[in-house]
Formats: sequence, C-alpha cells, structure tokens
Amino acid sequence: MSYPYQIKSAEEYQAAYHKSITDPEGYWAAVASSFLWRKRWDSVLEWNFNTPEIKWFNGAHLNITENCLDRHLGSLGNKPAIIWEPNDPEEHHRIITYRDLHHKVGQFANVLKNNGVSKGDRVCLYMGMVPELAIAVLACARIGAIHSVIFGGFSAQSIADRLQDAQAHTVITCDGAYRGNKQIPLKSVIDDALVQCPFVTKVIVLTRTHTPVSMIKGRDLWWEDEIRKVETLGIHDCPAQVMEAEDPLFILYTSGSTGKPKGVVHSCAGYMVYTTYSFVNVFQYQPGDIFFCTADIGWITGHSYILYGPLSAGATTLMFEGIPTWPDAGRFWQIIDKYKVNTLYTAPTAIRSLMSYGLGPVHAHNLSSLKVLGSVGEPINEEAWQWLHQNIGKGNCPIVDTWWQTETGGILISNMAGVTPSRPSYATLPLPGVDPILVDENGQEILGNDVSGNLCIRHPWPSIIRTTYGDHERCRTNYFATYPGLYFTGDGCYRDQNGNYRITGRVDDVLNVSGHRIGTAEVENAINMHSGVIESAVVGYPHDIKGQGIYAYVVYSSSHGDENLSRQDIIQTVSRIIGAIAKPDKIQFVTGLPKTRSGKIMRRILRKIAENEPNSIGDTSTLLDPSVIDEILKNRI
Ligand code: WTA
Repeated sequence: MSYPYQIKSAEEYQAAYHKSITDPEGYWAAVASSFLWRKRWDSVLEWNFNTPEIKWFNGAHLNITENCLDRHLGSLGNKPAIIWEPNDPEEHHRIITYRDLHHKVGQFANVLKNNGVSKGDRVCLYMGMVPELAIAVLACARIGAIHSVIFGGFSAQSIADRLQDAQAHTVITCDGAYRGNKQIPLKSVIDDALVQCPFVTKVIVLTRTHTPVSMIKGRDLWWEDEIRKVETLGIHDCPAQVMEAEDPLFILYTSGSTGKPKGVVHSCAGYMVYTTYSFVNVFQYQPGDIFFCTADIGWITGHSYILYGPLSAGATTLMFEGIPTWPDAGRFWQIIDKYKVNTLYTAPTAIRSLMSYGLGPVHAHNLSSLKVLGSVGEPINEEAWQWLHQNIGKGNCPIVDTWWQTETGGILISNMAGVTPSRPSYATLPLPGVDPILVDENGQEILGNDVSGNLCIRHPWPSIIRTTYGDHERCRTNYFATYPGLYFTGDGCYRDQNGNYRITGRVDDVLNVSGHRIGTAEVENAINMHSGVIESAVVGYPHDIKGQGIYAYVVYSSSHGDENLSRQDIIQTVSRIIGAIAKPDKIQFVTGLPKTRSGKIMRRILRKIAENEPNSIGDTSTLLDPSVIDEILKNRI
C-alpha cells in the first residue's frame, strides 16, 4: 500500500499546508482519490457553519469497510490486520489477517441482517476490548447500520440514557469483560439498563468470561449460536451496503457543559478520508509497521486510531484487552517487546501512572523496535514528556502530541513524526487542511504570536462533526453559535513566537479526568440524586496522575450522621448513575455555596479553593453571602 498524500519533509509540509488553505477543495480531492469509491463525488465541499450544514464528497458512493478490508485482500490478505493481546499474558493471543477479518465481518454482518438490522438502524455495542468488538463495529458499517459504542466503564443508567437517545433496538454485549484482576459483568449491567428500554428487541451476547448470565427468551441470543446459523445456511460473504458520502457512520456520546451527553454524529466519506490521512501523516506509518494504540474502542481515539484509520491504511493494529499495570507495571513494555511494536500511542495519565513504578519494569524489556511515540487526550506535562522521550524512546523516537476531540473525528493539531519538530507540551502545528484561529471573549480574532485565546477552527475539515443525534440545534448552539462563522473547540490555547500551538485546557465546565471528558453538570446531577443532598457544585483540581481530579462541594442535610459514610454513599450514587470514572476524588460538606445575588454559583471561587490558591480568589463583593467562603476555606480538604 502506498500513500500518495504522505508528507515526508518540512518543506513538503509547508507546501501542502499552503495548498490546503488556498485551494482546500483541490487539496482534499487529491487526497480522496486514493480511496476506493463506488461512485466519485459531485462536489468536494458544500458548507455553511451558521446552520450548520457540511457536506464532504457529496454524491459519492462508498462503503468504509471496502476501504478497510476488501481493497487489501489482494496485496495484504495474509498480513495481520489485528493483533489481539488478551488481558492475561498466559492466555493465547490472536492474529487476525485481513482475509480472516473480511470473513468474520461478513459473517457477523449476516448475523445482524438475520436479526432484522438494516441500513440506518442504530446498534449499541457494550463490550470489552475483544476482537469481536472490532468485528461488530465493522459489521455494522458493512450493512450501513449506525454503531454507537459505549465504554465498558459506564453504568446501567448511562447506557439506558444513550439507548433511549439513539433509539437503538439492537444491543451487542459480552457475558463479561476482563480488566486486570477484575471481571466486569457486562451482560448484567445491560439487563439493568434494559429495564428502562423496552424497545430493545435483540441482545447478542458474546461469551468471554463464562460468567453466569440470564438470557431472556426471544430477546437474548448467543453470538456463537447466531454465527453457526449463518454458517449452516452456507452464507459466506456479505456484500457491502452502498452508502452515500454523508450517510451517518456512527454516534459516539461525549460530555459537554450541560447535564446530558451529546451523541456526536460522524458520516462515512469525510471520516474515512480524514482518519486515514491523519494516521498516515502524524505517525508517518510505513507498510509493515506494528501500531499500538492503548485507548479503548469506547472512545473516539479507539474508533479513529485502532480501527478505521489503521485498517483503511492497510496497517497492522494492536488491540489490548487489559490495563497497563496488571499483572505488573511492565505490561505495555512487555507487549512492545513481544510484537516488536513500532508506534506506541497512549495517554499522559498512563505515562504518569507508569512513571511512579520507577524504571525496573521498563528495563526488563527490549524496546528497540519503537520508532514513534504519541500522546493524546490531555495536555502532556513536561516531566511525563521527558520520561517518555528518555526512557521509552531512548532519545531516538519523535513524540507526537496530538490534539483533537470526539467532534473533530481525527487529529487536527500535532507535529508529524520526524517531519516537523516536536516541542514538549506543545501540540505544535495544524495538519494541512486545518485552519486554527484564536479569538477573545467577544469573538475578535487575536492576531500575531505569543498570544492566548479560545481555540476555534475557521474552515471545515472532512471529519468535522455533522450533527448531535436527534437534536441538530444543540450541535449549532454548542459548537457554531458562540463565535458565528467558526467551529468553537471549548479549549483555551497559547500560540508561541513561532506559531506553535499549546493547548491549555477546557474553558467550559468540562473536566478532563485521566483523559476522559466529564461534564461537571453531569456529576452534580448524579450527586444530587442522593437523598441527603440538597445542592452541590463540582470543579476540577490538579491531580498528579489523572491530570484533573473531581472536587465536589456538597450541601448536605444534617440528619444523616456520619460524614464518611455519607461520602461513600455519594460516591456510590455517582458510580451508579454515571460510572466509576466520574467518582469524586474529594467531597467537602458545606453549609452553603458562594452565589451571586441572581443565584448563580461562583465556580471561579470554588475552583481556586480546590486548586489551593486562596489568595487568587479575587473579588467576592458580588456574593450574596461572602461569609460562606471563610467556612469553605477553613474546612478545605
Ligand atoms: C483535550 C480525545 C491537550 C482537549 C481525542 C479536548 C488535549 C479534549 C489533547 C477532547 C492534547 C485532547 N493536548 N489537550 N494533545 N488531546 N485534549 O473528545 O481539552 O475525549 O477538547 O477526544 O481533550 O477529548 P475527547
């Protein structure tokens, strides 16, 4: 496989960038010509950010799985598409060639069809990191069903909310999942969720942990039985459903500043082109390289850089079921050694956690196969960057700091490995095709260098969000209305003397905990579900490993007694409503929250207290009752 759009030098980067800004349509038409289309597009781009309406490659017909599978069968058929490493190093790994994957996706696509799933239907996947998750995702895409993967750490309530929003009638799950020394009873969580979702008619259950589960007759089916059925029928391939360029490919829920998660919708053609293009350029993928992205497929990073980007590029992608610290903190390094991994793409929180175990686990393994390292999900602090550079990359591997979002579909700002320079804690430069702009609070462009502002993007790129599922207006107000004519990222950003971008963090009420996006309003809603809670306010504070920790101020009815028990209760409530990822790290009971006369909670003040910067609390004269601050400060945790 060759990549005519791969940029190989700093000069080529400059030229490509210039072309992409002066003639975006010509630029993207050239990139798109190396994909497999059933029919070419009528127009490269039609767009209006005000409504918003964005159409890339309109009129084209394609199926993304033909790009990820069928087109590789000739030259790469016997090459590994997916290497799967199980949670337990004693269990056998699996290597799935492109031919195998094509076959398995076809089989499962036929299972879906047999169960009445067709183009446009929403299918929810709640599985562990097993190869069948990849197979199920691709099988949905094969028949044009819209997949919605839910991360295995979300609770039954979160699943129910998402199923209802997407009106998904089909669920695919596992009996359970392995994560380190834990087993997660996925099917039983699904059962709890489905109490609220009577419209779900089919649940397909893969056997993984052999955990006993209850199966409801007529609704619940075993994956293995269903595969046997299509085999007995003698159905082999599944012809790909021909899709329009702008048909939706998937929904992925993400947190925003309001209480309810948004279903970010991506469409087929633009997402395919951009994920492949960014994969090949940022990581400088070379045919034969083994690419290891440690994300979970339940997040956008897994969608774009475990599955679609690498597979469409004919790469070998490594999928790992487990966690970095089990059976010991050398697990990543052992995997890299075992498969001679060339690229490691991971998150700062994982690096920081592994740093705390010292260099013993690192030195036990040979990491000389590594060529490129990547970071995603949150700003990488200089210390973690240096540790990665020196101890993992041995000073020889470029680190790409990739900035992007669920809504952007692919990496927008990043250096390109070995092609453009890296700089610790800087995402550096936009990819060709990406036009960033910094604005002040009033939407005025901040020109020049050595400046900070809110990060927006001026022109659409192919994998930009198309809508929020079932609520287009929400998409408009969230991303396109704050600064008319611009896509607003929600991130603050600094541009240095040389035009390098450094992301400074969210400017809205969204936290980034271990690289996971969590809305403060969502956590507050969950805390407020506890019967003893009158009111709460949640803010972030710096956390050594997680990046940000969750600090909750809770007004609690006094009748409930023991504070520690109450804390445990509140934590459990949050786990039950959202999932363990949103558990507060600190809970402070207060008698009142700082509010303005109009009743608005002054989060700025609460943030400063949580950050332990009481001297920068600033003006409190507009508060209804400034004395609450003294009490909060006195009892700070
Ligand atoms: C943050 C993850 C700094 C940012 C792909 C963004 C980053 C949010 C970086 C999106 C980075 C992601 N440097 N911050 N390299 N990458 N972020 O939707 O705040 O889970 O808005 O997508 O993570 O998180 P999401």
